[in-house]
Amino acid sequence: MSLSDLIKTRVSQKSYIEKKVDLDMLEELLDVSVFAPNHKMREPWNFVIIEGEQKQLLKSRYLEKLPEDQKEDASKKLSKIFVAPVVIAFIMPLSLDYDDEIEDLQANAMLVQNFLLLANEKGLSTHVKTPLFIKTDLFKDVLDIEENELVTCLVMVGYADQRNNPKRRTPAKELIRYYK
Ligand SMILES: Cc1cc2nc3c(=O)[nH]c(=O)nc-3n(C[C@H](O)[C@H](O)[C@H](O)COP(=O)(O)O)c2cc1C
Repeated sequence: MSLSDLIKTRVSQKSYIEKKVDLDMLEELLDVSVFAPNHKMREPWNFVIIEGEQKQLLKSRYLEKLPEDQKEDASKKLSKIFVAPVVIAFIMPLSLDYDDEIEDLQANAMLVQNFLLLANEKGLSTHVKTPLFIKTDLFKDVLDIEENELVTCLVMVGYADQRNNPKRRTPAKELIRYYK
């Protein structure tokens, strides 16, 4: 598929078949994704892959530490995400400098898009998720990441049970103006 087609056919996927995802292949895709632009080569990223039984382990570790009245909602949200055979947490070290941090977030977004397109090329479907709980100390603790790191997103990965049509976009022609 051409790059244009890979961009245009990438769609968010909510439901997946049970087919296993090859983890070596995923690692290779991430290894290509890291060629994203990033300022001063800070390479502001690392990844936590959650798959198979580890999804349930993470979920129960998280839920057991949550206050009772938050468990049900959190359980539903995590279950929706963990229907994917693999979930990748994209992690970014926080910076003391606000401008650096914005750049690092941009670099992360570019890396994630690289990954989504490479996954699409391999016939894998994906869905970027940013539930509010990924920013909490409790979730970070359960995920075993550092205090000074941020989960920028969770990406669901797997084989789709059905292909979705891409959503319509406003043509760029309607958004472009030439500076006069
Ligand atoms: C940074 C970011 C965060 C997102 N967070 C969520 C989310 O929390 N829940 C969700 O259902 N979709 C989330 N999405 C997916 C978008 O809703 C989706 O990309 C958008 O509707 C366009 O659809 P498409 O991906 O099929 O083209 C997120 C996308 C991005 C880029």
